Amino acid sequence: MVQLTLPKNSQVKKGKAWPKPEGATNTRAFKVYRYDPDTGENPRWDTYQVDMDKCGPMVLDALFFIKNEIDSTLAFRRSCREGICGSCSMNIGGRNTIACTAAIDDYKGSVTISPLPHQPVIKDLVPDLTNFYAQLTSIKPYLQTVTPTPQGEWRQSIEDREKLDGLYECILCASCSTACPSYWWNSDKYLGPAALLQAYRWIADSRDEATGERLDDLEDPFKLYRCHTIMNCTNVCPKGLNPAKAIGHIKELLVERQG
Ligand code: SF4
Ligand code: FES
Repeated sequence: MVQLTLPKNSQVKKGKAWPKPEGATNTRAFKVYRYDPDTGENPRWDTYQVDMDKCGPMVLDALFFIKNEIDSTLAFRRSCREGICGSCSMNIGGRNTIACTAAIDDYKGSVTISPLPHQPVIKDLVPDLTNFYAQLTSIKPYLQTVTPTPQGEWRQSIEDREKLDGLYECILCASCSTACPSYWWNSDKYLGPAALLQAYRWIADSRDEATGERLDDLEDPFKLYRCHTIMNCTNVCPKGLNPAKAIGHIKELLVERQG
């Protein structure tokens, strides 16, 4: 398991230990990072006791229990509840993942939950991903063509379509980029594994006609080459994808075209 550092707020102090819900006999403790920029106070760890007889099996269920039954001030993102939207990504038990597919039973003892590491925190478990999305936008994540648009659709062989397997499934949860030490130190200039996996997804698409421009744009000491194959990205991806491999393919293409 990859152990990661805390978010960018220093001095996390001990917070409130909430009592067990009345009548609960089967509880699990959840230690949750709390931060409210409006108060100007340092972040804190609040500990909640969740009644497992009234809670679903996933960590997101526990967060809902806390918010609905114990402390409505807790803030976190979520939407689909089934591992598709990527919005519930956070650090659980020292590892980035998505809370809706993280089974509580897979964690021992008290479950520690904090926002994705090394991102500014808006509130509690909600990171500010403005930079992450700006970087995604910068790689132009859409089909670019110069030939006239065909009647019907842009066609692709079965073999060429298969080249997108392992790439198109990315849900942009940012677990990989925010697990990467290289991204932590250079996130203003290094695009990070998620954006680079997306970049390769369009480079690898047989229908796209901007491959040269895409590679030109990535040939940069920071945007691409700050990847040092640390592999945290691949280790944490909750969809089982391999951003490090995609980055390796981009580097190979850059070498090949020189030669
Ligand atoms: S590659 Fe995996 S970890 Fe990274 S953003 Fe996509 S789904 Fe999330
Ligand atoms: S709520 Fe959509 S991925 Fe978790």
